[in-house]
Amino acid sequence: MTLDGRPIPVIIDCDTGVDDALALLFAVRHPGLDLRAITCVAGNTDVDGVVRNTLTVLEQAGAPEIPVARGAGRPLIEPSRSARHVHGDDGMGDLGLPAPRRTPADVDAVTLLRREILASPRPVTLIPTAPLTNIALLLRTHPEVTGNIERIVFMGGAVACGNATPVAEFNVWHDPEAAAILLTAGVPITMYGLDVFQRVVVPGADVRRLRASAEPGARLAGELLAHRPAAPDVTTDPEAGGIGDAGAVCAVVDPAGITTRLLPVEVSLAPGPTRGQTIVDRRPRPGEAELHSGARDPHLVDVALDVDVARFTELYLTTVDRA
Ligand code: BDR
Ligand code: CA
Repeated sequence: MTLDGRPIPVIIDCDTGVDDALALLFAVRHPGLDLRAITCVAGNTDVDGVVRNTLTVLEQAGAPEIPVARGAGRPLIEPSRSARHVHGDDGMGDLGLPAPRRTPADVDAVTLLRREILASPRPVTLIPTAPLTNIALLLRTHPEVTGNIERIVFMGGAVACGNATPVAEFNVWHDPEAAAILLTAGVPITMYGLDVFQRVVVPGADVRRLRASAEPGARLAGELLAHRPAAPDVTTDPEAGGIGDAGAVCAVVDPAGITTRLLPVEVSLAPGPTRGQTIVDRRPRPGEAELHSGARDPHLVDVALDVDVARFTELYLTTVDRA
């Protein structure tokens, strides 16, 4: 909710995606959010698969009316590189769900983003949980939208360790140029990176309860969580499931659940082993580079450094199991 008690207008840009689906289930069910549109981009799977998965999730969640648009089919420079080994052949866990009955909007993602952002009576919070291609295209095509964007809370990047490469997180690695455009958008940005993303897990007992639910949306959340085993350094519970991208949406509803610091962030665009790395400057004072060559224009981002795991787990469960 906003301070005046009205729901926060949000748009999710996603590559559904097992954990993007968890994010959508949460967003459509939280009363503090007004989900105005969903835009789709190639990432975890091809963009047509992302559109299909997104429409399916909305139908299962009982929220079929939200507009969904198809966006970029590949990154700006890089070729497409899917994550089917993580998200299954259909990109959403191969759960055998029925094909959606509806079709996407008859406008492309950039057009829908522009339309919904400018039409919103209050500034919109954008929540990208995918490679940032659509967002970069939007910012370059219609820069006037920034006037009605409250904040961009994106899942991507990492302060410490990557997943696509030792240093690069998948969403940024997939389209580094697009991420660089996002970081220089000139609007407030929160980076919900891998450092916090991987830590929020639902205990196995709750995953089992959701899977046994008679309500399709809650049951789907259980099935999706069962497809997202937690890393061994996070929990030893073999049935626990990570909420992943949904944590970025939790951070919009409940910003106090994350600890952030405003820090300079840059994306490495160089070819080679650092490409796609988010370089987060946590030095307490300027270094030799700044002393010798002068400070460069720092793009400051609210970087999530810590997360209240119990708080977000509880928030996720009470919201998704609400129906
Ligand atoms: C990100 O990449 C995708 O696999 C997930 O959906 C998430 O958005 C994590 O690196
Ligand atoms: Ca994603």
